[in-house]
Amino acid sequence: MSKPEKIVAIKGMNDILPTNAPLWELFENTTETILKSYGYQKIVTPIVEETGLFARAIGAVTDIVEKEMYSFEDSMNGDKLTLRPEGTAGVVRAVLEHNLVYDGPKRLWYKGPMFRHERPQRGRYRQFFQFGAEAVGFSGPDIDAELIMMCRRLWDDLGIQNVRLELNSIGNADERLRHRADLIAYLEKHEDILDAEAKRRLHSNPLRILDTKNPAMQDMVNAAPKLLDYLGEESLAHLEGLKKILDRNAVQYTINPRLVRGLDYYNRTVFEWVTDELGSQGTICAGGRYDPLIETFGGKATPAVGFAMGMERIIELMKGLGEAAAPNQCDVYMVHQGEEAQAQAFILAERLRDAGLDVVLHCATPAGAGSFKSQMKKADGSGAAFAVIIGEDEVASSKAAVKAMRGESGEQQQASVPFEEVVDYVVDQIVGDHDHDHVHYHP
Ligand code: HAM
Repeated sequence: MSKPEKIVAIKGMNDILPTNAPLWELFENTTETILKSYGYQKIVTPIVEETGLFARAIGAVTDIVEKEMYSFEDSMNGDKLTLRPEGTAGVVRAVLEHNLVYDGPKRLWYKGPMFRHERPQRGRYRQFFQFGAEAVGFSGPDIDAELIMMCRRLWDDLGIQNVRLELNSIGNADERLRHRADLIAYLEKHEDILDAEAKRRLHSNPLRILDTKNPAMQDMVNAAPKLLDYLGEESLAHLEGLKKILDRNAVQYTINPRLVRGLDYYNRTVFEWVTDELGSQGTICAGGRYDPLIETFGGKATPAVGFAMGMERIIELMKGLGEAAAPNQCDVYMVHQGEEAQAQAFILAERLRDAGLDVVLHCATPAGAGSFKSQMKKADGSGAAFAVIIGEDEVASSKAAVKAMRGESGEQQQASVPFEEVVDYVVDQIVGDHDHDHVHYHP
């Protein structure tokens, strides 16, 4: 028989393997703790939504909607569906559908996979994970500042340095309209420098041309009319209000007049946290205000602001820090030989887990249950603080051998402990020994 063909993961979609999982867990736990400390509540929305939701929220003339969405027809009923390319649209849909803001504004957070059919490269994937926060129903610059400061706290807690904050205001629709007319006139004057994409966007989405990475267009876009110069009193006051809070809290930022963001729902505040340590995909977190969005979905006018972080990119930074997340370890490894010993081991393992310990029970492989020696090797490799060993002699005497795997001076002490006392014995040893970092005891 010929060997079956190997099936591999889809290009641009990654496995998160157990060796990396502790780092992901550290990131997720740290972020969730911080979000909670600012009063944000978790929301989970489906990964698949109607295609129309994204087209309407993100904008028809955007990279995401034009060419990056995983859209398909449901073969059962012909529904047009899309794997979510980002989280804001789904959250806004859910807020409206469940009238979540009926009793006042809401601070929400979410995490999960997003899908964009981009050209994969370092830091840019087709399935990637975002951690996002959306504050719905708040209008002032205070909440914008809160979101930004929440990010700063996260970088501090994770030990991430060398990340800078870029800030801009893209005003409101009227202000953008006035700017747009001047911008198009300016770009038309420089049509010979525009690349094909810019030419295509000249009349549909000229603002996005300012975001170009094309080196040949940099000087030209740098000298283009700046939206900041078109802001009215209220938009300016909002930006000044935000700057004032950031200044008072020693949050450093640079105003980047060319920061316009790639999604169409934004107004006023937009920001990005950027690092130079990840090559060209250095934006680890991005967001801004999207005050008009809820109204465009038929809801009552409700201001909102949020951000999303690219988890892969942040994990990559954490790796660069040599971040030592505790590897997957357990407190106790159960070693046993013989049928009755196995039965006892199962019972004891459950009791140890009842007491809050992480316990790995040795199980058979195709090579068999394994000798004591090979099981002890596994116990050692598991990083367990203790091996609880049950063989024929232990069954006969109703006592287990409890071996400390990582004694003070490296010696492995062993005690003979009656079955019914094993839990207390191990817990006592671990609690008395609680600053050992290999202990996972969680009563
Ligand atoms: P975004 O700028 O499209 O904004 O994405 C936010 C972050 O997700 C990026 O800064 C980046 O870290 C990460 N990211 C985006 N695409 C990829 C990719 N292909 N591979 C890896 N990471 C990626 C949004 O998605 C908005 N929903 C943010 C927001 C929330 N604005 C208001 N509320």
